[in-house]
Amino acid sequence: SVTGPVRPRDGGVNERLPTGAIEIMATSLEVLNRTETPPILPDEHEADRIAEEIRLRYRYIDLRRPDMQAMLRVRHQVAQVARTWFHDYGFLEIETPLLIKTTPEGARDFIVPSRVQPGHGYALPQSPQIFKQILMVAGCDRYMQICKCLRDEDPRADRQAEFTQIDLEMSFVTREEVLEVMGGFVRTLLQEMKGVDIGPIPTVSWHEAMTTWGSDKPDLRYDLPFVDVADLARETDFRVFTEALADETGVVRALRVPGGGEALSRKVLDGYSDVARTLGAGGVPWAKYTDEGFQAGVGRFLEPVAEALAARLGIEPGDAVLFTVGPPRVALPALGEVRTRVAHDLGLVPDDAWSCLWVIDFPMFEWDEAAQRWTPGHHPFVLPREDQLDRLQTDPGACLSSSYDFVINGCETASGSLRIHRRDIQRQVFDILGLGEAEAQEKFGFLLEALQHGAPPHGGIAFGLDRLVMLLTGTDNIRDVIAFPKTQTGADLMTGAPGIIDPEQLQELGLRLEVPETAPTS
Ligand code: AMO
Repeated sequence: SVTGPVRPRDGGVNERLPTGAIEIMATSLEVLNRTETPPILPDEHEADRIAEEIRLRYRYIDLRRPDMQAMLRVRHQVAQVARTWFHDYGFLEIETPLLIKTTPEGARDFIVPSRVQPGHGYALPQSPQIFKQILMVAGCDRYMQICKCLRDEDPRADRQAEFTQIDLEMSFVTREEVLEVMGGFVRTLLQEMKGVDIGPIPTVSWHEAMTTWGSDKPDLRYDLPFVDVADLARETDFRVFTEALADETGVVRALRVPGGGEALSRKVLDGYSDVARTLGAGGVPWAKYTDEGFQAGVGRFLEPVAEALAARLGIEPGDAVLFTVGPPRVALPALGEVRTRVAHDLGLVPDDAWSCLWVIDFPMFEWDEAAQRWTPGHHPFVLPREDQLDRLQTDPGACLSSSYDFVINGCETASGSLRIHRRDIQRQVFDILGLGEAEAQEKFGFLLEALQHGAPPHGGIAFGLDRLVMLLTGTDNIRDVIAFPKTQTGADLMTGAPGIIDPEQLQELGLRLEVPETAPTS
């Protein structure tokens, strides 16, 4: 602590420091506390050079860096804008419990054993889904909450086991009304935080998104659409094409890569096959296009249809073309992943561009081949689209839901739907999901009962707060936007959680844990 008169610097003003233009003529100086030599410097330029484990271990120093302080401010501002915006629309912030019965969102539950009821336990909420629906039955027409969700799943670049949602629910709404209110929130958020006007928000069906860009969260900051070339592929002698098309569901789609013939080496183009193979596809046949036509890669196979193919793709000398073949559920996402890589490799992602869209009309169910059963496309409480109700019985695989996702720059930032508000439909959906009467009663009897007590039509959505902050701060690492995040193995390197559980605590809970010989490393 320094006391003394402040005066402008005579010279040598340091523009890079906020205090660089002044100096203090110290008349007293007091040491408030002593510090060890810091293990890392809270310097704004250091982050890339310090191992992330060290940053997480000494998070209290890492958080002093200007970037991290700015991130915390952005996070706070997002929460502020959300609270103000939804408050102005008549939403009430209502808290829901953390110790609950399970709320399935497709991940494993974290379980908390009960001490007072031996053999029983709570689940931590994967989301407040059921509670917010019950709040609608309870007459709270507009609910919001900035809440923690806990899912025992492996962390990824954009996923943590413990994360935060801006969670919302509304009664007596149509899908379009929900999209309008929620789209309005994002518009305001980007306007206030970035000064960006996102304009009208396009709506794309899941089917169109998958067939055109190979993703249910397409990044439309760049175009790169797929083109159906099955009819032309059939006329070639290329066995990869003809064998894929022998199966009646098989597809052959092409992706024109502008400038890719010149800018991408054979090695890079071959490498895209490895990307596709990680998603189960056979590979990505490619060719370059020159003044002499299709060359290299599978170019020679394309000769018989070269002219028609070039015209359909609008391809120009210097471009490349990539193909995906096989069953659509594998072939399309594989090329979708490659499309993203191509855009980054060629620098096609414009700086400061924002692409927002709604993806709607998701399938109600997905077939789990291994378990030989239907699983929910989103979660078990999603209402089928009204005109699809018949299909619940006749053709569940073709039944479309009322779900919607909000996608920003290729990132799923929010997901929601209208909900089932009638017990008979909820029962039908549980039936399809293989949840028998007894199990449904045991797990969700309270919800089924609530639905019988005047549940209004309702719907909602949840935004991933962490993902919004990632987009606004321009990072692709979710740990950069959480004050105290966990590592890939769920460890908090600063506190040492998860720790060994005290044997006495275990005894009180009636638990015995088997400790593996090799503990995981973080
Ligand atoms: P969902 O599970 O799709 O829906 O989650 C909604 C949004 O939350 C974010 N999100 C995550 N962010 C970080 N780490 C994670 N592990 C993670 N999982 C999800 C995403 C996602 O779009 N109850 C429903 C919502 C509803 O139907 O209203 C739900 O939780 O941005």
